[in-house]
Amino acid sequence: MFSFFFSHVLVFASGLLIGITLITFSFKNLSLNFQFHQLFLPSLSPHSDPILISALNNQTKVTIHSILRPTKAAMHDMTEEELLWRASMVPMIKELPYNHTPKVAFMFLTKGSVLLAPLWERFFKGNEAFYSIYVHSLPSFNDTVPQTSVFHGRRIPSKEVRWGDFNIVGAERRLLANALLDFSNQHFVLLSESCIPLFNFSTIYNYLMNSTKTFVEAYDMPGAVGRGRYSPRMRPLVNLSQWKKGSQWFQIDRALAIDIVSDQQYFPLFNKYCKNRCYGDEHYLPTFVSIRFWKRNSNRTLTFVDWSRGGAHPARFMRQHVTVDFLKRLRHGRTCLYNGKTTNICHLFARKFMPQALDRLLRFAPRIMQFN
Ligand SMILES: *[C@@H]1O[C@H](CO)[C@@H](O)[C@H](O)[C@H]1NC(C)=O
Ligand SMILES: *[C@@H]1O[C@H](CO)[C@@H](O)[C@H](O)[C@H]1NC(C)=O
Ligand SMILES: *[C@@H]1O[C@H](CO)[C@@H](O)[C@H](O)[C@H]1NC(C)=O
Ligand SMILES: *[C@@H]1O[C@H](CO)[C@@H](O)[C@H](O)[C@H]1NC(C)=O
Ligand SMILES: *[C@@H]1O[C@H](CO)[C@@H](O)[C@H](O)[C@H]1NC(C)=O
Ligand SMILES: *[C@@H]1O[C@H](CO)[C@@H](O)[C@H](O)[C@H]1NC(C)=O
Repeated sequence: MFSFFFSHVLVFASGLLIGITLITFSFKNLSLNFQFHQLFLPSLSPHSDPILISALNNQTKVTIHSILRPTKAAMHDMTEEELLWRASMVPMIKELPYNHTPKVAFMFLTKGSVLLAPLWERFFKGNEAFYSIYVHSLPSFNDTVPQTSVFHGRRIPSKEVRWGDFNIVGAERRLLANALLDFSNQHFVLLSESCIPLFNFSTIYNYLMNSTKTFVEAYDMPGAVGRGRYSPRMRPLVNLSQWKKGSQWFQIDRALAIDIVSDQQYFPLFNKYCKNRCYGDEHYLPTFVSIRFWKRNSNRTLTFVDWSRGGAHPARFMRQHVTVDFLKRLRHGRTCLYNGKTTNICHLFARKFMPQALDRLLRFAPRIMQFN
């Protein structure tokens, strides 16, 4: 590309004595070189900063908002490699030079549509300034979302995902990377299509915003479905005592999200040695976070799921399961630590709820969960 640039500059400058000086100067001064590149040869660099190019094409000037304001739709044309690189950027000046309201990114990892969308619509209503939504669904999913829905235009560029395969972790990273593009997003919640909120928006928002800890479940589990999935080939980066298990449904902050999308050590290692029956989505983040960020992690998740019936899949909740008592138990039925103090709010979300449960959830939500 450089030689192409070089020859163009030569043509541009031919016949001009000053041209020679210019070329010499552009060798010396990289930033001048960059500007010429942008001004004269934009078509040569389809992967250059899209904001700069479109601003130049549009004859407008770059403003802080054109850099920071994410586009209305979540779709973009970046490759995965470009996306992760862009998302890994961290400003060295911590104070933002503009007013902003910290937001929670709700990231839905789904096969198709968000099954309980009407409940979520109620949950989000009136809180528009405080959240962003991202949806990763199977590329083959092609249903349209009504314009009035909070999920409209929130699909991100997605890839094929097989449940149990390590590529599900790739999808989680893709969701995080897309959400990181918006600097207002400070907390990141991974949800499935069958998740429901257990509290109203303000309670969940405050709980996440005020937490001093991240919520990535991580524990040591002896036996075949815990330590049994560890491969000694992961040494020396990961040894057996560091191997952890936990739910994939996490709630983390921006600093950890950036470290996850930037991880180029553990991710490739797990991708190689934690395939198929290893269920990487239950081990990669718990292990990675426990090695690198255990000090700030609570080792628990805020998403309730019922494994008490045994088997490979957790309990699925139908219409008849949804009662006032059941919801109250999910909300306040246990105690745990929050910011060093005991609380009876341990789960903010729950799964797996089937679409048949929707009408009862909608009926009970205003009263039990205090949706407004
Ligand atoms: C050019 O900029 C104006 C004002 O910022 C904007 O409304 C318009 O959509 C832009 N057009 C293109 C083609 O980017
Ligand atoms: C959507 O996908 C289905 C199969 O998954 C296909 O039959 C249908 O033609 C697709 N519709 C559109 C509009 O692409
Ligand atoms: C949300 O629920 C809490 C109780 O969990 C209640 O105190 C608060 O008023 C509710 N917020 C709104 C906006 O309704
Ligand atoms: C949590 O933070 C909010 C502001 O986001 C504040 O209004 C609220 O009182 C805090 N709650 C607790 C329990 O600290
Ligand atoms: C595993 O690694 C940790 C941290 O590097 C180290 O302290 C521990 O001794 C190692 N354990 C084994 C069994 O190698
Ligand atoms: C979480 O687990 C790690 C071990 O991986 C431990 O060192 C840490 O103290 C635990 N944190 C809490 C809050 O229990």
